[in-house]
Amino acid sequence: MHYIKTILSLLLISLIFVGLSCNSEPPKNSRAAQAKRGEKFFKAHCAECHGPNVDAKRVANLQTPPPDLTKIMERRKHPATFPVAEIASYIDGRKDVQLHKRDMPAWGKYFANEEKLSNDEIKGKMGELIAYLISIQK
Ligand code: HEC
Repeated sequence: MHYIKTILSLLLISLIFVGLSCNSEPPKNSRAAQAKRGEKFFKAHCAECHGPNVDAKRVANLQTPPPDLTKIMERRKHPATFPVAEIASYIDGRKDVQLHKRDMPAWGKYFANEEKLSNDEIKGKMGELIAYLISIQK
């Protein structure tokens, strides 16, 4: 029976250590931390078309007005879960084979060519943008 007590006290000690090492910042890969990185990129690259600070000159010549991205769920009549795969592949845009001209830049191409990211890293970027978009749904 003695060893059970030892195991239990070791467990307790490690739990205390875990507790002590927690600080107020969200863990690096939590949804909240991801959303924060996504928000930063969004403000720098997406907000000029989608708001909150639309650049009138930038959107004036687009065929389609950029949709309000706080209403992705509303436009789809509030499905049970956010359409992660659909939206990620739309933002990436590299697989988009529509014949009509697309106004929205293909961000997958941007990440691959301008930022020299690997496909895995691009998936990570999409994850951050999706986490942010989920956090702003009305
Ligand atoms: C040049 C303007 C422009 C920029 C910059 C832009 N978008 Fe778009 N976006 C559009 C337009 C226009 C549409 C509507 C579809 C189309 O014509 O391409 C759209 C559609 C979307 C949609 C589809 C929404 C839905 O409900 O189906 C998502 C998601 C989206 N954009 C996310 C982003 C993200 C994330 C960024 C930044 C990484 C971004 N957009 C940057 C113009 C832009």
